Amino acid sequence: MRIVAISNQKGGVGKTTTAVNLAAALAEQGRRVLLIDLDPQGNASTHLGVDIYRLETSIYDVLTRGVELSQVLQPTSWDGLVCAPSNIDLSSAEIEMVSAVGRETILKEALVRLERDLAEKELPALDFVVIDCPPSLGLLSINALAAAREILVPMQTEFFALQGMSKLMEVVEVVQQRINPSLRLAGIVACRMDTRTRLASEVLEDIAAHFPEILYETRIRQNVKLAEAPSYGQTVLEYAPESKGAEDYRQLAREYLGLPLVIEEEDEEDELEDEFEEEDDAAANDEVFEEEEEEELVIEANNGDLPSAG
Ligand SMILES: Nc1ncnc2c1ncn2[C@@H]1O[C@H](COP(=O)(O)OP(=O)(O)OP(=O)(O)O)[C@@H](O)[C@H]1O
Ligand SMILES: [Mg+2]
Repeated sequence: MRIVAISNQKGGVGKTTTAVNLAAALAEQGRRVLLIDLDPQGNASTHLGVDIYRLETSIYDVLTRGVELSQVLQPTSWDGLVCAPSNIDLSSAEIEMVSAVGRETILKEALVRLERDLAEKELPALDFVVIDCPPSLGLLSINALAAAREILVPMQTEFFALQGMSKLMEVVEVVQQRINPSLRLAGIVACRMDTRTRLASEVLEDIAAHFPEILYETRIRQNVKLAEAPSYGQTVLEYAPESKGAEDYRQLAREYLGLPLVIEEEDEEDELEDEFEEEDDAAANDEVFEEEEEEELVIEANNGDLPSAG
């Protein structure tokens, strides 16, 4: 069971989109996957089509009431993918967990019991557990890092992308030292990348310079299908299987699994479709092209207090 936490305390960088679509792309590869929604916003659960307003039990009960993970699992439209959902109930969990003994490892222990339970009942084991973290570094995120073997950090290729990374690396180090020595930084994924702007590629170069070797080769491009899919309760692989968004997340899954990457070969028809998609993406994008001079200033300003890979 390979457990990966998708974490970045910065909001709106693409954590949930990555957690859901990476999990689906792994399921599409025939793997058995559990997605744990650790965010009280419940976005990952909704994205997978779970009705979070009618849950009898959720990840909240696992963390605060000793309910077993196996009791909260919800099916999804993918055979190999189940979800441990969350909703607004989870927002009080951090306060409730504060006085619990071993509060940092509640999720880890629940996962150990789930794995044992599946084995005892001779049910197929899980290959992957993907944890969608909230945009904060509180007890919920610590539980994810304590349970995980790997942390994957989505970063938006925009101004301030690297801000806050030193704090995240500090927390990862403390968790490694005190709770989970086997935790490692699996990689950084550039998300929501507007490939047409110079700013995006300059920020990407910046990220690569600070985290050489762990920046994934796969880039998740800005793609309107990725933004539309959640409102249909579908992963992008179902909603728009041929879109750039689906392509990028399939590629990320391959890279994550250590499989060779698929080189894109475009024919004329594809190019035409891409143009239409790009128009949509441009419309969905608030800021389009900035003055180049301004961009350079922005990059310089962004080069302040930067972290190094942990
Ligand atoms: N590659 C992309 N192209 C277009 N839209 C995207 C892309 N990735 C994410 N989005 C959209 O951007 C918004 C933020 O993404 P997402 O919810 O995945 O970020 P997050 O880091 O999980 O946010 P939060 O910190 O609130 O949990 C969502 O509306 C999502 O649909
Ligand atoms: Mg999210």
